[in-house]
Amino acid sequence: MKWLLVLIYACTSYAEDYVFPPNFQFGVATASYQVEGGWNASGKGENIWDVLTHNRPELIYDQSNGDIACDTYNKAITDVQLLKSLGVDFYRFSFSWSRILPVGTSNKINPDGIRYYNELIDELLKNGIKPFATMFHWDLPQPLQEIGGWPNPVVADLFVDYANVLFEHFGDRVKDWITFNEPAVFCGGGYEDGSKAPAYKGNGFGVYLCAHTVLRAHGKAYRLYESKYKASQGGRVGITLDTYWFEPSSDKPEDIEAGEITIQMNFGWFAHPIYSKEGDYPSVMKERIAEKSSTEGFPRSRLPEFTPEEIEEIRGSSDFFGLNHYTTNKCTPLPAGWGIPPSQWTDIGTMCYYETNWEIGASSWLAVVPWGFRKLLVWIKNEYNNPEVIITENGFSDKGELNDCRRINYYNTYLEELLKAIHEDGCNISGYTAWSFLDNFEWMRGFTEKFGVIYVDFDDPDRSRTPKMSYYVYKNILATKRVDWKFTPDSFNECEF
Ligand SMILES: *[C@@H]1O[C@H](CO)[C@@H](O)[C@H](O)[C@H]1NC(C)=O
Ligand SMILES: *[C@@H]1O[C@H](CO)[C@@H](O)[C@H](O)[C@H]1NC(C)=O
Repeated sequence: MKWLLVLIYACTSYAEDYVFPPNFQFGVATASYQVEGGWNASGKGENIWDVLTHNRPELIYDQSNGDIACDTYNKAITDVQLLKSLGVDFYRFSFSWSRILPVGTSNKINPDGIRYYNELIDELLKNGIKPFATMFHWDLPQPLQEIGGWPNPVVADLFVDYANVLFEHFGDRVKDWITFNEPAVFCGGGYEDGSKAPAYKGNGFGVYLCAHTVLRAHGKAYRLYESKYKASQGGRVGITLDTYWFEPSSDKPEDIEAGEITIQMNFGWFAHPIYSKEGDYPSVMKERIAEKSSTEGFPRSRLPEFTPEEIEEIRGSSDFFGLNHYTTNKCTPLPAGWGIPPSQWTDIGTMCYYETNWEIGASSWLAVVPWGFRKLLVWIKNEYNNPEVIITENGFSDKGELNDCRRINYYNTYLEELLKAIHEDGCNISGYTAWSFLDNFEWMRGFTEKFGVIYVDFDDPDRSRTPKMSYYVYKNILATKRVDWKFTPDSFNECEF
């Protein structure tokens, strides 16, 4: 008994001593609409978030918008000094499509858009920070929405034209590309539940058309880079997918199945076509939506089909697996008669929820469940043959306090689970990105939920920045390659964990 206790002690204390591997890369992230401002500056066109926030402010919790946001349009250069002092290897930012192409199509390029991103990229490189660029982080040019947005298959070709402009102008210096950020969120929010621009409420139809176009666009953009740019530019292209971990609500077979179906139909939806050996949508998804569609009287499945050529084009179209992860839900089958078909929710047919004793951030959906992160990483390893994973977002929301102990607790616990996934589970994870660099415009929640490691004073016309305690804690993690619960930066009060 005594020996057993010693052994358990040895194992647990060892887990706390794990360090990040020597080549592990750290960064912080932002997205164009959430931070840039300059919404109508120097030739930029309007995007769907400009239009939504201006025309329907009642949909935004504090009726705010991203017209100025953090004003990084005017502050990109000085912000690089905050990145440098933090010690990040890379900065993940996104291009604003309508700043580069004001009407969305590549026949008209805005020189000021090219200038702005050139200056940002050059300043990052001058300071030893790699630009990690997202092409699309939700701000679709409004003229493309007016022809139907992502559910219109033609938008895939227009995206590839845009990607071509980006590779051509910036690919000599940008070596890490993400095509899309969280397609499940912008397709679901934009065309099914109305929670993101363009805020349409759908019925289990537009959401799948959106995803279908996005997957085709991603595959085509990847193949374009592969054939035209990779040899000379030597970079890599991937995609960022998001998911909760979906834990079965009990060990009953129907709950275990509910957890698996939920992750397949929220995440496998995009991951399976790209990262599985076979390609295409997960079979459980194809079967379920075909069956539901048939009982609902549709002549064919509401889930569109890929051609064999498209399956091949999309399969393997990623040089790494970009993963955004924040939280966990428990799942059980949807009780009979719940939900209104047709809908994405009744297609999935499960009900997912938080345990009431889980800590929740300022965002009502953000429960702190670090063990779910590790389970998800292991699931990805097993499901997709241990791909190279880069955590492209992870973070916690509060109300903006500088002594942000709850954020520090979140980062420390989630990073410890990540270390266990690397050292105990053999997951191939090569980088981590904290969301977010700055407090910013949190979509429908406006400025009411803060994710930054830097506080931004949105009442100050100058949008002054103040590093929070978590900025210094993250800096210490980057410098020492380990989590240190005892580290308290100068001039901050010690946290009670
Ligand atoms: C840009 O928008 C602001 C309001 O946010 C307005 O005051 C200004 O006149 C606009 N500038 C241009 C060039 O249209
Ligand atoms: C991780 O993935 C990269 C890229 O595919 C590969 O080169 C490397 O060998 C993998 N590492 C491990 C430990 O599997």
